[in-house]
Amino acid sequence: TRESHPARDTADEPRPIPLTRSCPFAPPAELTALREREPLSRIANPDGTTGWLVTDHALARKVLGDPRFSARQELMSSPLTARRAEPAMPGGFLFMDPPQHTRYRKLLTGQFTVRRMRRLEARVEEVTERQLSLLRAQGKGADLVEHFALPVPSLMICELLGVPYEDHEFFQSRAVAIFRLVQDPEESGAAYAALRTYLLDLVRRRRGEPADDILSDLVTGSDLTDDELIGMALLLLLAGHETTANMLAMATFALLSHPGQLTLLREDPSLIGGAVEELLRYLSIMHVGLPRAALEDVELADRVIAQGDTVTVSVAAANHDPRKFGPADGLDITRSATGHVAFGHGIHQCLGQQLARIEMRIGINGLLREFPGLRLDVPVCEVPVRSDMGVFGVHRLPVTW
Ligand code: HEM
Repeated sequence: TRESHPARDTADEPRPIPLTRSCPFAPPAELTALREREPLSRIANPDGTTGWLVTDHALARKVLGDPRFSARQELMSSPLTARRAEPAMPGGFLFMDPPQHTRYRKLLTGQFTVRRMRRLEARVEEVTERQLSLLRAQGKGADLVEHFALPVPSLMICELLGVPYEDHEFFQSRAVAIFRLVQDPEESGAAYAALRTYLLDLVRRRRGEPADDILSDLVTGSDLTDDELIGMALLLLLAGHETTANMLAMATFALLSHPGQLTLLREDPSLIGGAVEELLRYLSIMHVGLPRAALEDVELADRVIAQGDTVTVSVAAANHDPRKFGPADGLDITRSATGHVAFGHGIHQCLGQQLARIEMRIGINGLLREFPGLRLDVPVCEVPVRSDMGVFGVHRLPVTW
């Protein structure tokens, strides 16, 4: 009866997706409550439909690995806006299913193998060292985002892809419009258009004169159209610096706010590999989660997800599931965080994850080594966090040393 099951009644009532983090890292407390009560729960979408939210680690991997769930954004209801997204642009394979997804992704896998990325390590070290000297040249303190966390991944993806880094202000400012939690269609449309024009010019130049970079390899080694090349380049350019930049800044922020963990890593830099995995898990910067659309009715956790329903997999909730990671709320760099879904899971699992790991390992250890007195220059709760952006992080990280 209603009276004997009050908790179930509340649980069944779809609510908007929980997004507000507490000061400043922890995923929303509502997610934990949902996971315990109903790991596959209903959420109310702004377009009036009811979607689903996955908060459990095993279910998250199930959904992300199941071909009955599509990544095509035009099939989905957004948990954040009543507007439906356009189909992916040609080459934008993040939002495609096989066989289109397979075709594009295959053209890039050779460029991002573990072996190839290992060979890139020396270059990541050079870029990091140079950026650390520029940071030091700021005097007694600086914004770590502007002078370190953003330039390192940005320089690396520019170099790999063949985009001139001198143009970084142009594409970084456009990226802001695209990464807003809720896009303003006019602003993001203009940003896409400007970036496409810019990349078209680059593609044409590479057709005329190939160089030693991914764009040239794609131009010469495939039959992709200009539109497809632009779409792939845009995906790599955007995915390649926003995410890692926010992870570098947030990882530093988290370590500076956990002095015990910071000391552990300072005393034994060989812990960095595990520390990076734990930071990826703990911070789970893909803020809203990974959305999928059911292509057919799917039975999951004793419920039926109807064809056409949108399921959002909460990366943050899955990565804090105590059944997988033990008491998972605290940051513990000695924990085994293997199996986290910070890079997703299944066919769309992050293509750039090895590069991101290398940048984070070298970046964080370099920073701690070069700046033994590194500390926050403002109280923890005054750091401007990116709750307005799709990728969680900080807008600025004022530090001193
Ligand atoms: C896909 C996270 C860095 C390129 C993804 C996905 C996640 C993710 C969660 C899967 C999205 C989904 O399933 O819907 C991250 C994080 C990063 C990072 C947390 C940094 C710490 C990078 C870098 C690059 C990159 C450095 C490029 C060099 C891509 C691409 C995809 C992707 C191309 C689409 C893969 C596909 O659809 O097959 N990333 N990423 N990422 N990432 Fe990353």
